[in-house]
Amino acid sequence: MNLKPQNIPPVVVAEFGTPLYVYSADAIRERAAALKTALAPLNPHIHFSVKANSNRAILQLIHRLGFGFDVVSGGELARLQAAGIPTGDVSFAGTGKTVPEIRRALVANIAYFTVESTGELRRIAALAAETGQSARAVLRLNPNVDAHTHKFITTGHAENKFGMDFETAADLWRQFRDHPAVKIEGIHLHIGSQVRQIEPYIESAQKGLDFIAARRAEGLTVRRFDMGGGFGIGYQGEPDFPPAELAAALRPLFSGQSLELIFEPGRWLVAPAGVLLMTVQYIKKSGRKTFVITDAGMHTMIRPALYGGQHRIEPLNPPPADAEPIVCDVVGPICESTDFLAQDRLLPPVQPGDVLALLDAGAYGMVMASNYNSHPRPAEVLLDGDRIRLVRRRESPEDLWAMEINSPRMDTD
Ligand code: LLP
Repeated sequence: MNLKPQNIPPVVVAEFGTPLYVYSADAIRERAAALKTALAPLNPHIHFSVKANSNRAILQLIHRLGFGFDVVSGGELARLQAAGIPTGDVSFAGTGKTVPEIRRALVANIAYFTVESTGELRRIAALAAETGQSARAVLRLNPNVDAHTHKFITTGHAENKFGMDFETAADLWRQFRDHPAVKIEGIHLHIGSQVRQIEPYIESAQKGLDFIAARRAEGLTVRRFDMGGGFGIGYQGEPDFPPAELAAALRPLFSGQSLELIFEPGRWLVAPAGVLLMTVQYIKKSGRKTFVITDAGMHTMIRPALYGGQHRIEPLNPPPADAEPIVCDVVGPICESTDFLAQDRLLPPVQPGDVLALLDAGAYGMVMASNYNSHPRPAEVLLDGDRIRLVRRRESPEDLWAMEINSPRMDTD
């Protein structure tokens, strides 16, 4: 179910170079099937969270597997459209939806908006009214539960910017109960990302169901419950979050509720299906430290720098069995001290020219890559059975300034 470095044909590096993102279509298929089976007792809709990996080839693959999508920007919606994916099974979350983004979603007639504030619902209603449409919405609640994850990726705490407190949401629902241009159909709760335990989900589901019961008691119709995403994976090789256990625990809560349940996983589906390949450039000793300097860094994969993300790193070609390991920092070319992919890590001895694989890079890797220090972004390759498909070409130096507008006479004006 995961892409292992030894399964990558050597020709991939020879042909496409490094740094390179490599994904396995088979791994995504297997993970998708496993997730569907695990959650089947809840009969949910599964919307892949596009932010985790938005390459159109990956989106098409996931679409063919029968998933819907959750987007958080007009750009992500545009990607789905450019991939030829119908937009009827798309939800649109995110705190800052602009007028053009909402207009695009209305034209695309998406399934529903996940509304994060009063101002946003008013804006959606006004824009839908202009075109005589009736938009569908769920209200994003802030459940105030602790997801026990990194503070930068927890979202369900009262101090986070996400969602609304329960009272605000209840008031809003009452205000909009008969609105002709927007119909509130349910609620959304997302507690955070890289969640390892099922308890925070149970707690937030219970809070959501209590909220729904109170709205139904007021005579409001409720038909959707979007539980968000967040299923964690084992970055150290430990077991992934167990969706089957979650389904078993949630089933009694949801039975007889007449609610359509939605999940929005991103990482769980794609992270272990991708690796980032990089080539060692130099080995440098400085004081007590050994630095393995590669052609990837925080600009290629920012998770270690941003969240202290711990990804396993392995040589693409296995070292001799008797090789003495070294303790090193794997770093990149960027002029920042946070430019590391691993710190104080035990690795087999490596030489300049060796290729290393950073594992579990299929989610929040390429999507967060940047051009900082004017490094062109990497290429992306999708392995599908015996086929090797380049699904994004490597950027060229010219791509770096392709969008800059430069008057030829600028220096003489
Ligand atoms: N739904 C909503 C509303 C979200 O905000 C997110 C993630 C997801 C679904 C998907 O979460 P997942 O199943 O992938 O955990 N860049 C960070 C993760 C940020 C996640 C933000 N929201 C990282 O690299 O760990």
